[in-house]
Amino acid sequence: MSEKTWSEVDRYLETTLLAEDPVLKEVLKRSEEAGLPGIQVSPLQGQLLHLLARSIKAERVLEIGTLGGYSTICLARALPKDRGHLISLEIDPKHAEVARTSLARAGLGEYTEVWLGAALELLPRLMAERWGPVDLTFIDADKVNGAAYLDWAMRFSHKGSLIVIDNVVREGKVLEGENPDPAVLGTREVLSRLGAEGRVEATALQTVGSKGYDGFALALVKEDP
Ligand code: SAH
Ligand code: DHB
Ligand code: MG
Repeated sequence: MSEKTWSEVDRYLETTLLAEDPVLKEVLKRSEEAGLPGIQVSPLQGQLLHLLARSIKAERVLEIGTLGGYSTICLARALPKDRGHLISLEIDPKHAEVARTSLARAGLGEYTEVWLGAALELLPRLMAERWGPVDLTFIDADKVNGAAYLDWAMRFSHKGSLIVIDNVVREGKVLEGENPDPAVLGTREVLSRLGAEGRVEATALQTVGSKGYDGFALALVKEDP
């Protein structure tokens, strides 16, 4: 079985299960035309994020790593229009600009914000502004700081919050304890932190598809931190 099969199955599942989505289609086009890397979650993964947020009736969402706003839109659409709020953190000004345009065009501009800067500088500012607690955090920025992002996600959580972490398998490289790649080291660090964290119950799912071989980690916060 090959990567080609995974992608074909993804296409089959997308056409079978997902409704046509002109807005997300336009988002992808805008991102591509702006030269952004095509590393956003796949349509099926985006729908998973959306359904998770809807299932827990999320009203506040924190995203770390915006890119062109694809996952941001999937998450923001799950929020109640009258009191939902999402903040997404992005270090690259061009990415942030493209995402803001896409969020506005998706009609989500009023209750979403893209904060520009290094997440580790923005998170303390968010905390100082007493924003939160959040019902769902999606961690999907640089992989080196994953463990620090998990610590912050815990601080922003309450009992019942969900934390989702992208890219935890990395084509199996997560197995390689001796691999000097900082992204691999960071991923192993965040996973071991998650396993040792007594205040969550966690799992991880390996995924294949149009984004190759990777995975998500998922944690439910069991008590107020
Ligand atoms: N969540 C997006 C994909 C994010 S890709 C989606 O699925 O649609 C990772 C993003 O994290 C990139 O846009 C990158 O610029 C951003 N990033 C990298 N390092 C960061 C940092 N230190 N702080 C905030 N954002 C960062
Ligand atoms: C990369 C980052 C991601 O968040 C992702 O989902 C896939 C690839 C990357 O930096 O290459
Ligand atoms: Mg990712």
